[in-house]
Amino acid sequence: MKGIILAGGHATRLRPLTKITSKQLLPVYNKPMIYYPVATLTQAGIKDILIIIAPEYAGQFLNLLGTGRDFGTKFTYEIQEKPRGLPDAFIIGEHFIGNDDVTMILGDNIFDYDFSEEIKNFTHGGLIFAKKVPDPARYAVVEFDNQHNVLSIVEKPKNPRSDYAVPGIYIFDNRASSFARKVKPSARGELEIPDVYNQYLALGELKVNIIESNWHDAGTFDSLLQANNYWAKKSMRS
Ligand code: DAU
Repeated sequence: MKGIILAGGHATRLRPLTKITSKQLLPVYNKPMIYYPVATLTQAGIKDILIIIAPEYAGQFLNLLGTGRDFGTKFTYEIQEKPRGLPDAFIIGEHFIGNDDVTMILGDNIFDYDFSEEIKNFTHGGLIFAKKVPDPARYAVVEFDNQHNVLSIVEKPKNPRSDYAVPGIYIFDNRASSFARKVKPSARGELEIPDVYNQYLALGELKVNIIESNWHDAGTFDSLLQANNYWAKKSMRS
């Protein structure tokens, strides 16, 4: 299993915090944000991680993270010139993934959950997650039937058909790159991630696991503050 952390983009929603640095380098309590997705992958035993970054602050990531030796893993870096969308990670990472499976996590997604079991037991197809949230319209939203079969997954729907968001961690076999190449830009001009996992769904090869533990997408002022408070409280308790 290889790992990819997608940590590019312009993070205009967080200006002026992101005027002189990248969102994924901002503090979340006592660590830069990207330490959390790094920990999510390394605690699951992933020893080979590609970090995809924007050109502007590439040097800062290198200074902070280095080779990966300090984290017990190996880091490779790629530049994403423009934020073309999440599936672009599988196109940029095609050679890195090679014949392996891949877990891709977004650099601003912070989980208090250990994915070791899911990653260890993964065999083929796609595995994504669902988490009940109060504000599903911010995310990809998954709709289930009574038996928990997936009926639909839609990116940022105006009228969400459930309260279940798809968090930013995706476990795929190596068809992810060829599926990503088939995706066409959406109305907002981006490649959308549901267009990758819906191809696994169409083949009957997508699993969705519901998670209950804490998860933050720290991409807005409010969610960044909530993430800071959550990890500060947790570290004071331990
Ligand atoms: O947080 C989970 C949500 O993340 C999912 O439910 C959505 O399906 C998914 O599209 C994504 O939504 P966001 O609105 O949070 O996406 P955002 O554009 O903020 O990008 C997420 C992260 O990926 C962010 O840290 C920046 C980085 N990124 C984004 C794009 C589009 C890149 O590095 N390159 C890109 O091209």
